[in-house]
This record gives sequence, C-alpha cells and structure tokens, in this order.
Amino acid sequence: MKKDITRILVTGALGQIGSELTAALRTSYGADNVLATDLKPAPQPVLDAGPFTQLDVTNADEVEGIVRAHEIDTVFHLAAILSATGEKNPMLCWNVNMNGTINILQLGVKYDMARVIIPSSIAVWGPGTPPCAPQETALKPTTMYGVTKVAGEVLADYFFLKYGLDVRGLRYPGIISAETFPGGGTTDYAVAIYYDAVKQGRYTCFVREDTALPMMYMPDCIKATMDLAQADLSSLKHHADFNVGSMSFTVKELADSIRKVIPSFTIEYAPDSRQAIADSWPNGVDDTAARNEWGWKPAYTLDEMTKDMLERLAAKHAAGLI
Ligand code: NAD
Ligand code: SER
Repeated sequence: MKKDITRILVTGALGQIGSELTAALRTSYGADNVLATDLKPAPQPVLDAGPFTQLDVTNADEVEGIVRAHEIDTVFHLAAILSATGEKNPMLCWNVNMNGTINILQLGVKYDMARVIIPSSIAVWGPGTPPCAPQETALKPTTMYGVTKVAGEVLADYFFLKYGLDVRGLRYPGIISAETFPGGGTTDYAVAIYYDAVKQGRYTCFVREDTALPMMYMPDCIKATMDLAQADLSSLKHHADFNVGSMSFTVKELADSIRKVIPSFTIEYAPDSRQAIADSWPNGVDDTAARNEWGWKPAYTLDEMTKDMLERLAAKHAAGLI
C-alpha cells in the first residue's frame, strides 16, 4: 500500500532541478509542507518563497535532526556531484553521492517514510551499452558519477526489498532549463548553447557536432518526477531505475533548431575532456517500462523546447538577469 506524501524534504534544492521541483511541489502540496535544503546558503528570493535550511547531506546527524524537527515523511534527494565535476574530484563525488544517499535511505526506514525519490542518470551506462539503452542491460559506467549512480540504484532497490521502503528513481537524460544554470555535468552544453545564443549570437561547444545524447526539457522532467512519486506502488515492477526518454539530438541538430528562431546564430567546436564522457553514454533510451508501469509520456519536441527556452532567456536578458 502506498502511503500519503504530506511533509517533504528536498535536498540539493538550489540546483538546476531542485530549484524548479521545489516550486512545483509547493504548488501541489502547500508551500509550508516543502522544506528546501542545500549545502549552499539561499539567496533572498528563495528565502521569501518558502521554508529553507542549509543542510549537508553527508552529515547524518544533521539530516536526522531536520527530518525529526520537520516531521518529514517524504524526501526528494537531489543533492549530488555531477559527471564533469565528479571526474575532477572523484572522492568528493563518491562521498556526497554515496554517503548522502545511504543517510537518506536509513532515515527513510527509521522514520517509516511514505516515499524517497532519488534520481539516477544516463551515466549508469558505459561504452558497451547499445545505442538505444534498454531498461535491462549491463551497467558498466566509466565515470565516478556513473559508478555512484549504479550503486545508488542497487542500494535503493535493496532498501525496498529488505525493508519495504518505497524508494523510486528515474534515469534522467540531460535536463535542459532556463531557470537555474546546470551544476557541472557533461550535458551542460545543451543549456549553455541557448544562453550564449541569446547573449552573443554564437557558442563554442565542448563536444563535437555529431555528439548525440538523450535530453529532456525541464517541464517534462518535473512531470516525470511528480508522476512517478504518485504512481500506484502495486503497478510498479521497477523501483529506483526507470529509463525515461524524451528526445535525442546531435549538437548540429540543436544548432539548426536554434537557427529557426535566430537565423544568424553561429557555432564553433572545441572538444575537451567532457567529450569522452559524452561518448561513453548511449544516444537514446527505451522507456517502455516507465510508459507501461506509470503512464510516462513526454510532451516537448526539440523545436517546441527551443522556442520556449529562447523566449524565456530573451526575457531574462532584457531584464538584465543573464
Ligand atoms: P545540480 O548540480 O544543479 O544541483 C545539486 C545541488 O546539490 C547543488 O545546489 C549543490 O549545492 C547541492 N549539494 C552538493 N553537495 C551537497 C551536500 N553535501 N549536501 C547538500 N547539498 C549538496 O544538480 P541537478 O542537475 O539539479 O541534479 C539533481 C539530481 O538529478 C542529481 O541526483 C543528478 O545526478 C540527477 N541528474 C541530473 C541531470 C541533469 O541533467 N541536470 C541528469 C541526470 C541526473
Ligand atoms: N546531466 C548529467 C551530467 O551530465 C547527466 O546525469 O552529468
């Protein structure tokens, strides 16, 4: 039986996804029922929007104090070190991603939580993965970030099997958004290109033009996360490792989409160490399990996303915000 979600803790709430997911959760569950937390201090607009506390997820006592004081029954655990930063500092990546996750899982059991949501990533796969990654296939990543994501999925499924904790997770593709700039991932080029197109009319890309990766627009990412959290437990055969797809495109196709709105846009290529990470990931994902088990269906196409991204960023640019 699925328990009700009432008092929510969001970790990593100042990040690319957390900043928008927190707002969506507050709309659905009430602002005072969603506690935003992050390692970093919050700027004033975040403090004005609802409850916020600084929190290091690697500090188990600190996290438990927050869970107890706020009677938390659900955690959306977004605090993490992403792929590019993780390759620069693998042990930081291991510490935050693994110790943060085990702390949340243990508290989930101790406080009999209704739900724990922990995102995974396309980074669970490695160079031998088929171009369209199946739901069930070998997980042999070549980044520390990917290693922590595989271990996190397996650990979360173990907590479901061993303790009955209702843990759920999605393998997000690269997430594209206009609200908060991404925090040190390989797919960041697919966001930076829009910012530079609006600000300068040109972009220098750190991966080759034929690099193709699975991507998703933020509204679809938020919808997937909230829908999975509310899905009937009895309909789920998978738990912490759902493939979720939306769109896949090369950088050239992305630049062509931007040119439909900004015809003068130009792009150059200067691949760096992130090319190898991108090359180790598949081009697409098979998300049949998510579609069948909880009705996943993305809404945005590449061109629809491009139009919306450019409108939002143009407005921010005009207001002097970027
Ligand atoms: P992000 O880097 O934008 O945000 C992560 C947040 O975690 C940051 O605000 C950071 O300050 C915080 N943080 C770091 N260390 C912390 C600690 N010790 N304690 C508390 N907070 C800490 O990341 P995101 O893109 O919002 O990703 C959220 C989740 O989604 C992560 O699990 C990530 O692996 C996953 N994911 C993201 C993408 C993507 O494209 N954005 C793709 C796949 C998976
Ligand atoms: N966007 C993420 C990264 O590039 C994928 O998990 O690290």
